[in-house]
Amino acid sequence: MTDRIVLAYSGGLDTSVAIGWIAEATGAEVIAVAVDVGQGGESLETIRQRALDCGAVEAYVADARDEFAAEYCMPALKANALYMDAYPLVSALSRPVIVKHLVAAARQFGATTVSHGCTGKGNDQVRFEVGIQTLGPDLKCIAPVRDLALTRDKAIAYAEDKNLPIVTTKKNPFSIDQNVWGRAVETGFLEDIWNGPTKDVYDYTASPEFPPVADEVVITFKEGIPVALDGNPVTPLQAIQQLNHRAGAQGIGRIDIVEDRLVGIKSREIYEAPGAMALIAAHKELENVTVEREQARFKKTVGQRWTELVYDGQWFSPLKRSLDTFIEDTQQYVSGDIRMELHGGRATVTGRRSDSSLYDFNLATYDTGDAFDQSSARGFIDIFGLAAKVASERDERVAVAK
Ligand code: ARG
Repeated sequence: MTDRIVLAYSGGLDTSVAIGWIAEATGAEVIAVAVDVGQGGESLETIRQRALDCGAVEAYVADARDEFAAEYCMPALKANALYMDAYPLVSALSRPVIVKHLVAAARQFGATTVSHGCTGKGNDQVRFEVGIQTLGPDLKCIAPVRDLALTRDKAIAYAEDKNLPIVTTKKNPFSIDQNVWGRAVETGFLEDIWNGPTKDVYDYTASPEFPPVADEVVITFKEGIPVALDGNPVTPLQAIQQLNHRAGAQGIGRIDIVEDRLVGIKSREIYEAPGAMALIAAHKELENVTVEREQARFKKTVGQRWTELVYDGQWFSPLKRSLDTFIEDTQQYVSGDIRMELHGGRATVTGRRSDSSLYDFNLATYDTGDAFDQSSARGFIDIFGLAAKVASERDERVAVAK
């Protein structure tokens, strides 16, 4: 039987060319796999047909938007996942769900090898291949851009030569990856890190400079997950989509950072994640109200480690799974409403209420009704500062003796 290779297919120039390129280089049959994670653009049916027209023997398409939102974006929200305190893991989150479908397609069509269009310099090759190795230890990986010398110029020449049904003329200066959680833009003039981003870099967000009137939203959470917006029930996907729209209109969630890639390169990246950034800000504040102090402090460390693991392509790793269990446990009481004002590039919390709140008005108030026994504070402070005080006295004693 002829060997079969499943290819992560986007419908764009590079992966369209990759179908024939891989077939010619390896003699294998190519099965195209297209996964909708909310990147927008062409319909799955259009992409499916193009894959077949470009020589794929089969095309597997999956609408994974709800799955992606519920099983990948929501855990990131619970972790308040921001890599280097800034990047909400947009691309890093989509790779594992694509990997799941690649492995499922490989099984369905009896393929021995999985292929993707990543270069040899980025994080995504690692995320794909570590994921594939974990879910399908028997599967091999091949990346035509990295392993079969498929350069951009060769891709354009090949597409024109073979008359592939794909536009090759309009050369986008940027490398873009997008899904419902956000959008990542790199390369081109952005590689000079002194260059400011121009207007054409952005798509999910309007400029925050001249915003429309402020937009007030109430986000209802249940155990760490948004379940309603302004009282209207939403699925995780709908919550993200609707907030992308509303926060995007206010220019919220634009990020411009130099980032540490897993492969050791520092790279400049522009992100837009209006819905994700608004949701994370709201979720964090609801945690402030409902999570006990020591649990909250420790969760911050756990969340950061979780974020690094996911960035580094370790989604299916045992440590990531263990940290999930901890994070999940902390979300038990993260239920209630957060009121936010979306305006001019900022998502600002203006109110919070929760049946599982730890905020005690009578403990916090400086007015009548104060239930906090201030006389206990003195003794607490004496003992709390005792160790440092003893050490300080020792420092002085030793210094004098010298
Ligand atoms: N640097 C980001 C990451 O590693 C985004 C990479 C997305 N790819 C792109 N072509 N912009 O998660």
